[in-house]
Amino acid sequence: MSTLLANVDLEAAYGEAEDDFRARNPNSAAAHRAAAEVMPGGNTRTVLHYAPYPLAFAKGEGAHLIDADGHRLVDFLGEYTAGIYGHDNPIIQNAIETAVRDGIVLGGPNLMEARLARAVVDRFPALELVRFTNSGTEANLMAIGSARAFTGRSKVMAMQGGYHGGVLYFAAPSPVNAPFDVTLVPYNDAEAARAAIRKAGDELACVIVEPMMGSGGCIPASAEFLGALREATTETGALLIFDEVMTSRLAPGGRHGALGITPDLLTLGKYLGGGVSFGAFGGRADIMGGFDPRNANAWPHAGTFNNNTMTMTAGLAGLTQLFTPEACLTLNAMGDGFRDRLNQAIAKRGLPMQISGIGSMNTVHFRADPIVRPIVDPVGNRKRDLLHLDMIKSGVYHARRGMMNLSLPMVPADLDVAVAAFEEFLDSRRALLIDG
Ligand SMILES: Cc1ncc(COP(=O)(O)O)c(C=O)c1O
Repeated sequence: MSTLLANVDLEAAYGEAEDDFRARNPNSAAAHRAAAEVMPGGNTRTVLHYAPYPLAFAKGEGAHLIDADGHRLVDFLGEYTAGIYGHDNPIIQNAIETAVRDGIVLGGPNLMEARLARAVVDRFPALELVRFTNSGTEANLMAIGSARAFTGRSKVMAMQGGYHGGVLYFAAPSPVNAPFDVTLVPYNDAEAARAAIRKAGDELACVIVEPMMGSGGCIPASAEFLGALREATTETGALLIFDEVMTSRLAPGGRHGALGITPDLLTLGKYLGGGVSFGAFGGRADIMGGFDPRNANAWPHAGTFNNNTMTMTAGLAGLTQLFTPEACLTLNAMGDGFRDRLNQAIAKRGLPMQISGIGSMNTVHFRADPIVRPIVDPVGNRKRDLLHLDMIKSGVYHARRGMMNLSLPMVPADLDVAVAAFEEFLDSRRALLIDG
């Protein structure tokens, strides 16, 4: 089949899949219509929108979701890695209930925040001191702010295709980004990064990087690349920030712990709040000491809900009782096995596709060449859209961008459902997938 014909067919197949989705999901359509009357596009979080309209969820149970039309789906989106504990873990529920019973919005230091701080400092080698925020975005803004304050320099370096929050989005020009003076370098290109860091010299405050690009497509950074960033920033006096908002779940000491590369500052988020709003930034004591309010010239760090008791209590319970180092290793081994099965299914059929990722985080790509950085791929994206709707029809929910995350309540049968749905997609859509 010519590429042109395949693309025409791809559009037709996608159109049919959308029609089918509409027919199966009238209650989600109604929810979307009502939402669109009061929120732009019916949406309050861009990533949750997809055509023709997103499924609305009525309930979550373990690793499963029940949508507004009563379909039960295995949840491989896992709240973009924040949902590691699933939807109704009793330990998390009890922690939140305790926090609610003991009184909320206390307006002073509480007895849980230092315990959660102790748990994360003990867990992640880069942290000597830590502070909490309400989101990963805020954590990154504060880390960049800290680097600029500490170094007295203004410039920031980030990666093409990187994502550090809604105002730190580097996959495409964004008119709502925070107005930092940002230079972008290609991910996984050690020489280019080294040269750019040296060129920026003593104007560069920091380099911020995800040790594996998450929203960019689960693309791991090579140890060589991260090592080059570490060396070059040390050389010029810029600070190295690892954004481990997503990747901290990949090893007991985070990705930086696994690689043995220590950034100056580290940011965290997602699951570490036990499923409640969370972010954290921290690192070297001499840098974080800038926030010590006992000093007259301390840098300010505000946030009404930074130490909210629900997050502190749920986060602590999750990290110490559920996502222990052993549970972390088991979950990620399960993820490695899952990714192998999907890649084997692709290889057996000789299709130009692959699943990238590490451990419990995976992304489908509709290309066979080695993936070291994100590329613009409109045809591949259309195939991803089709996969997304086909998987939903088969009872598997994952991110439209192709991301599939595992969570602790998943059992082998959940993985089997996803592998079977994926194989069915490969077979039923084969003609559309053969052309790269
Ligand atoms: C690597 C990374 N950094 C930061 C963020 C922002 O976190 P939040 O959505 O909690 O603001 C995200 C969210 O997906 C992320 O993936």
